[in-house]
Amino acid sequence: MNPRASGARPIDEKAALLREGQGASGARPINDRAALLRYAGLEQVLPLGSRLNARGALEVGGCDVTELAREHGTPAYVYAEDDIRARARAYREAFAARTNRFEIIYASKAAPITAVYRLMADEGLSCDVASGGELHLALAGGFAPDRLYLHGNNKTEAELRYAVERGVGTIVVDSFDEVERLRRLAPGQRVMLRVTPGIKPDTHEKIATGQEDSKFGFGLDDVPRAIAGCEAAGLELCGLHAHIGSQIYELSVLERLAEVLDGMGDYPLLNLGGGLGIAYTPEDRPPSVDEYAEALLSRVPDGVTVLCEPGRSLVGNAGVTIYTVGTVKAIPGVRTYVAVDGGMSDNLRPMLYAARYEAQIADRFGGSDLCTVAGMHCESGDILIRDVELDDPRPGDVLVIPATGAYGHSMANNYNAIPRPPVIFCRDGAARVVVRRETYDDLTLRDA
Ligand code: LLP
Repeated sequence: MNPRASGARPIDEKAALLREGQGASGARPINDRAALLRYAGLEQVLPLGSRLNARGALEVGGCDVTELAREHGTPAYVYAEDDIRARARAYREAFAARTNRFEIIYASKAAPITAVYRLMADEGLSCDVASGGELHLALAGGFAPDRLYLHGNNKTEAELRYAVERGVGTIVVDSFDEVERLRRLAPGQRVMLRVTPGIKPDTHEKIATGQEDSKFGFGLDDVPRAIAGCEAAGLELCGLHAHIGSQIYELSVLERLAEVLDGMGDYPLLNLGGGLGIAYTPEDRPPSVDEYAEALLSRVPDGVTVLCEPGRSLVGNAGVTIYTVGTVKAIPGVRTYVAVDGGMSDNLRPMLYAARYEAQIADRFGGSDLCTVAGMHCESGDILIRDVELDDPRPGDVLVIPATGAYGHSMANNYNAIPRPPVIFCRDGAARVVVRRETYDDLTLRDA
């Protein structure tokens, strides 16, 4: 089979579909198996251009994921490179259609991968780094330092020094203690002020940040003193920043945020953070990038430059994780556990946020056997998905979980000394490893 005959659409066309919120399901069927994909309801959840090939196996970026599993092993994070590019373009186009005063900043905590930084820089985005480590990766990925925004509620002196030495464009100041630190370390530095606007979005409490009771930023009452502090410290304050939370579907809270920040004074720049939610399951209906841009921009006067900082919505649906089924344990009348060769070490989100995912056997979509997908770690809570329908899962099957492109790799860990999975980029039927799999030797590498 010729993978290039995948009917993949050009990236700009994909960007247009995304901008307007049609996901991957735009009017044209991708191939004759498109009906089955739709049946499984996963078109809007899988990377753009995904399809089932003649063997019935899932292809991501034109690559058959069962072949990737054979060649590279499992678990593995598999991304469709064009999907990431299309989402970056969809953001730029949605804003450009409404204003020329905007900046799209990739919140790189979602997928701090050198190759992803490189791609975002190439697509003309700026970048949010939340630590010295992310700064290091962003620079390795080719970001110009002046396009970087350094965040964090407790940046260390070493991190601030590193940022200043490397010429980071903007530091987002988070506390009075940090104002003091910057006065010593970075006089004249361009900064923005992180404001906690007292807005609580409807999302998991662990990822809500805009409420008054938050470790982040300056509460509204403290903002005037913080502004005076920045001026006295000789910092160049260019605007206000707020990020109220993540995986948000309600646009009204983001509109309110724009109004609150705009009401705080005449600033040329307002950074309204990230937070646009994505679809993890077929039932999820997030707003489109177009609706999001409209909501933010409609509440801000013409002369103001609006910055937004998406993470999840740029990379979340671009990636899937592939695993191999190792054991199937049926407990009659209770449940069937399908155990895979990863789990809470490569995806913490189900355990941390009770996040819901879908799964399929990679070359037998559309089954009806009710299963629970368990990881391989020694905790009962190591469950990736409770109650998902699979087609007669058996040891050796490749299982795919979509929408793991954001906060999967970035929150991966070595629990039970499991080596972390590789990251594989796929495009036009060609796969390249952009982060290799960890080895057992990597596990002893830091022994002193
Ligand atoms: N800007 C700031 C200052 C942030 O703290 C974040 C995310 C973003 C932008 C990007 O938000 P996004 O567009 O990705 O929603 N580990 C959690 C998500 C934590 C988000 C932390 N900050 C998860 O897996 O759901």
